[in-house]
Amino acid sequence: MKSKLSVPSAFTVRNGHIAPGNPVAPKSAPSSPSAVAELTKDFETPFYFYNLDHVRARAEFLKTALCESQKLPVAIHYAAKANANPAILKLLKSLGLCVDVVSSGEIDCALRNGFDADDILFSGVAKTRRELVHALKISVKQINIESLGELERLEQILIASPALLPAGQKISVGLRLNPNVSPETHPYITTGLKENKFGLEEDAVIEAVRRITKTQAPIQFRGLSLHIGSQLLELTALNDAIGIGLAVQNKVRDFFPASEKSAVDRFDIGGGLGINYDSIDETVECDVVQSYAELLKKHVGSELDSGRLRELMVEPGRWLVARSGLLVTEVQYTKTTQHKSFVIVDGGMNLLIRPALYEAHHRIAPLTSDTKPGESSTNEPAKNVDVVGPICESADFLGRGVILPNTAPGDRLAIFDTGAYGRTMASNYNQRGWPAEYVYTEGRVSRIDSV
Ligand code: LLP
Repeated sequence: MKSKLSVPSAFTVRNGHIAPGNPVAPKSAPSSPSAVAELTKDFETPFYFYNLDHVRARAEFLKTALCESQKLPVAIHYAAKANANPAILKLLKSLGLCVDVVSSGEIDCALRNGFDADDILFSGVAKTRRELVHALKISVKQINIESLGELERLEQILIASPALLPAGQKISVGLRLNPNVSPETHPYITTGLKENKFGLEEDAVIEAVRRITKTQAPIQFRGLSLHIGSQLLELTALNDAIGIGLAVQNKVRDFFPASEKSAVDRFDIGGGLGINYDSIDETVECDVVQSYAELLKKHVGSELDSGRLRELMVEPGRWLVARSGLLVTEVQYTKTTQHKSFVIVDGGMNLLIRPALYEAHHRIAPLTSDTKPGESSTNEPAKNVDVVGPICESADFLGRGVILPNTAPGDRLAIFDTGAYGRTMASNYNQRGWPAEYVYTEGRVSRIDSV
């Protein structure tokens, strides 16, 4: 299926320069936006560079696919764990998105950057007492419960401290179902299999709902949530999971008296939409979103028509922001041994751990050259190299077997598609500092760091 809608590439290679795609340039902006190399030549490396115009285009695309084309009442809760840069959070809030958080730190970050408590979906498998109290005090939109122990803790807190919520108000909760489905993705990022720590098995969901029907605590069950894994480009497992989830939800709704059934009106299908890291072309993942919207419509159309469901929640992270980011590093040394050629740069697994942790592949290219990512230049002899960082670990690579034109100390390399799970998973291992973050919008660049 071909996209009726499309999003221009976050970055393009024009005349040998990587440049922001600038999909929503206003008339006043230069017709050919400057290359990233030119825009950032005075900035010290390493740094992240985010194309905010592209994040905007992505958010608009998703809203159109879900809310306009399929006319679904969807609340898009951006998973802040993907990228919590203040500029990105503020932008997404301004576009009407809500937020999905997994810690008190992310709650505070969301509030600091414009989200209201009523936008906040609080997920996560290990919420502490303090975190639950924090969420109750501000009265978040919904807390997704992942274990019977967590439900018990929430009840205890509310019974011991009823004043945490305004009088007469109940806290909305979801129960995260582990549907035991197997998506095609890296084993470290599947979350909906029975051996994963996440969610409640069906029997435990039933036990939890029975408990809620009897509780003295002001808890309102609103519906189930799912999140079966990340980097999904194939939707069969998600299709199965939604079918399982809706069947369980319809079963447990009947545990409530007629007057309370109507409150079980939400269904949260989590995040997980993937991107095609191997290509600069974004068509595949835009087509996946359209299939995703059709899949949702197929499952919930009648639930919505009958009034049983009133709101769907989705929690995309990567799909919204991954493409918008470049990690820019500077070549420090090149080294050729009898076995390999290395390009040694000033940022590594400390700034982008995905290659080391998941053997993830990110395209790498010089900021300025005649070469497109993964291709060799006709003018310069291309080399097969490992791009490695400064960290004292052999897992410290950004790319292995990368085809690059000859590079020399001082050259700058861009690591593509690093807008999601880049900066948020960075560390200061080896006492290296945090990278600067620059945001680009409508031809202008400003420095806006995450902390
Ligand atoms: N909702 C929940 C409950 C999640 O656990 C996650 C991600 C999301 C939403 C957002 O998923 P997304 O749409 O971004 O796939 N560090 C890994 C990804 C781990 C995802 C963890 N949970 C990576 O770099 O690939």
